[in-house]
Amino acid sequence: MKISALDLKKQIAPIRRELDLAIKGVIDDTGFILGPGVGKFEKDIAKYCAAKYAVGVSNGTDALSLSLLALGIKSGEGVICPAFTYYATAGAIAAIGARPVFADIDKETYNISIESVEKILLKQHKFKLKAVIPVHLYGQCADMSGILRLARKYKLRVIEDAAQSFGAEYRGKKAGTLGDCGAVSFYPAKNLGAFGDAGAVLTNNRAVNEKLRILRNQGNKNQYFHSLLGRNNRMDTFQAVVLGVKLKYLDAWNKQRQEVAGYFNKHLSYLAVKLPFTAPYSTHIYHQYVLRVPGSNKGLLGYLRAKGIDSRVFYPLPLHLQKCFKYLGYKKGDFPEAEKASRQTLTLPIDPNLTGEEKDYIIQQVRDGSQVKAKLSPKRGHL
Ligand SMILES: Cc1ncc(COP(=O)(O)O)c(C=O)c1O
Repeated sequence: MKISALDLKKQIAPIRRELDLAIKGVIDDTGFILGPGVGKFEKDIAKYCAAKYAVGVSNGTDALSLSLLALGIKSGEGVICPAFTYYATAGAIAAIGARPVFADIDKETYNISIESVEKILLKQHKFKLKAVIPVHLYGQCADMSGILRLARKYKLRVIEDAAQSFGAEYRGKKAGTLGDCGAVSFYPAKNLGAFGDAGAVLTNNRAVNEKLRILRNQGNKNQYFHSLLGRNNRMDTFQAVVLGVKLKYLDAWNKQRQEVAGYFNKHLSYLAVKLPFTAPYSTHIYHQYVLRVPGSNKGLLGYLRAKGIDSRVFYPLPLHLQKCFKYLGYKKGDFPEAEKASRQTLTLPIDPNLTGEEKDYIIQQVRDGSQVKAKLSPKRGHL
């Protein structure tokens, strides 16, 4: 059996007519750049997230860079982010000339460790620390009360990287609405995915919203009058209307992901692998379903892949050890939990459309491929 990590064809098929009509509408209207579909989608996601403003942009990476620029972060200033996240979190900091300052992660949630951030803040640095980017990794929120407490104490701006968690909630508030800005990615494989690149910034601050709109559109305040050094980071109207259709289904798809995760949790709980942990302050929308294998992920990863299961490692090398960030001067051993997570974690396919047969096949292969520690209980050990 072959099981891909995500089958977008299955997601698209039942809503194909709606999508075709939305795309046709853009062609008929010819409002390809910042057309009416973009404004409508911005209103829809602001409402969905109960945020005052949402600004549609070109992708999640630009959503992060634009947020930093809109909040006044300057070249050479330090921005704290986790060492264990997708490259773009730190890449977006470096792209505006600021300096990524890495923190370790919490070993249960894989999100930024508050203790590690505080340690950084207590140290002397040659540069000013101006902001922190907690990443809501894999679909659950970082410990935002800890982050916001430190941000208040040390006067830091907070930009949430909600690229993987659009729709997740931290104590009843949507991911991306707790800090100064929330950056979202609509990369096609995200829980809410476009038909190409797209992203958005959420904010409750009117001045930041206005600045973001100018920055994303070549610094134009009025056409051909440039009040800021802006960029071409606009959201494409085609993407906005596709996302507008899909948004209506997002909660149902996230619920299906939670059900798949619940099924895996139930049937894998007796194995030596560590199951995903959901912190009490957050919901989990399972952008990824991540297992931790004691020792190393290599054996189980190879086994599952050989059995046709599209298991992956997000991320095999933490950011402080990446060649591109060598200039920052970090070394192996600086962030032990990030390094351990890179060695030990792997994903299982968490497609909302997995069939019962596919889910059971995955469970069987994880069972066969991992060390069974505890005795199988007759109830839980058989599907
Ligand atoms: C944690 C994280 N941050 C940022 C991004 C960047 O988003 P995009 O690919 O839309 O630029 C991603 C997307 O993969 C991500 O997973």
